[in-house]
Amino acid sequence: MSLDISAIRKQFPILSEKIDGQPLVYLDNAATTQKPQCVIDALVSYYKECNSNVHRGAHSLADESTRRFEAARDTVADFIHAPAREEVIWTTGTTESINLVAIGASKQLIASDHVITTALEHHANLVPWQEACKVSGATLHIAPINDKGELDLEIFDALVSKLGDDLKFVSFAHVSNALGTINPVERLIKTIRAQAPNALVLVDGAQGVAHANVNVEKLGCDFYAFSAHKVFGPTGIGVLWGKQALLENWPVWKTGGEMISTVTYESAEWNVLPYRFEAGTPNIAGAIGLAAALEWLSGFDTQAIIDHEAKIMAYATEQAEAFDGLTIIGNAEDKVGVLSFIMDEGHSADIGFLLDRQGIAIRTGSHCAEPLMGRFKISGTARASFSLYTSKDDIDAFFKALRKVKMMLA
Ligand code: ALA
Repeated sequence: MSLDISAIRKQFPILSEKIDGQPLVYLDNAATTQKPQCVIDALVSYYKECNSNVHRGAHSLADESTRRFEAARDTVADFIHAPAREEVIWTTGTTESINLVAIGASKQLIASDHVITTALEHHANLVPWQEACKVSGATLHIAPINDKGELDLEIFDALVSKLGDDLKFVSFAHVSNALGTINPVERLIKTIRAQAPNALVLVDGAQGVAHANVNVEKLGCDFYAFSAHKVFGPTGIGVLWGKQALLENWPVWKTGGEMISTVTYESAEWNVLPYRFEAGTPNIAGAIGLAAALEWLSGFDTQAIIDHEAKIMAYATEQAEAFDGLTIIGNAEDKVGVLSFIMDEGHSADIGFLLDRQGIAIRTGSHCAEPLMGRFKISGTARASFSLYTSKDDIDAFFKALRKVKMMLA
């Protein structure tokens, strides 16, 4: 079954906007996806009909907001195939989810322990581990990639096997934000389980969740982190999924209301999951908006989304390869719709600016992955990233504009 792209696009009000009088061509989906009307409606409906704090009120509005908020947790649990709803923790986004885990890990790691992350990571899945290792004295290893931007599996396997019982944590992206590389998550986890039985595994799913059918049990990880705004939901809300037995004993990192069961002037006891990690008033509207986004996305056949994005990516790659003076950065065999590139004629910031003047939105720079750019000996790339609503017309408009940019910069 194929997607009706023009019908899908009509559900996104922003896609009809104009930039300086020119139709918007939105190709910055790895930074954030646009929001369908149903998500906007869910946010408005919450504020108009039942805005109230959750779990605390003795009135009908509070009951209704609590109902919608907790129903949203169920929707997330179903979407990622979590075995239990208590395993779904609301955070502000992927970065906070990873910090929650890494700060907890820093309290458990000791100097003889080892942690692995990879050369592909966003700063959000690198810096927290640098800090965790600094605090605990554990050693951080960076698993290298090849020139195509794929994890070097031979080196990865050898490293995991060498570290063996002393390897305590492995954290890697499901999909690279800068290059689009899809990591072979299940295969990596099989190696880790076989060679390093004491290691826990976190998957940074920020870029994975909108492009794959995420099944945390099938993937076999211990933690999976993602943000709502990259999967058609609002900003400021995200999820940490973790195995219940681990989360029940994981160190708390934020304290305050809601996360406690009893408090005296001297001390406090922690609440049960998931509230144990949800100190303070949560982003209630955000959670409800995320649920609306996931329900909307679940209405499509996942394979049809994957096929459409692959078709768009192949179409864009073909034109990029034929484009004189353009070099693609990241040519992994298994990739989502991310076209990262440099051009002989100009700096990525100039390319982005001149494309924007023609209504084309892309991202430029290091994409919060400075060490990865260093690995390719570049300061940054121009990155066009696609989504299920990206059309062939978008790609044609992009290359037409890029040809003009080339002439302007020549
Ligand atoms: N991490 C986001 C990106 O890749 C913001 O653009």
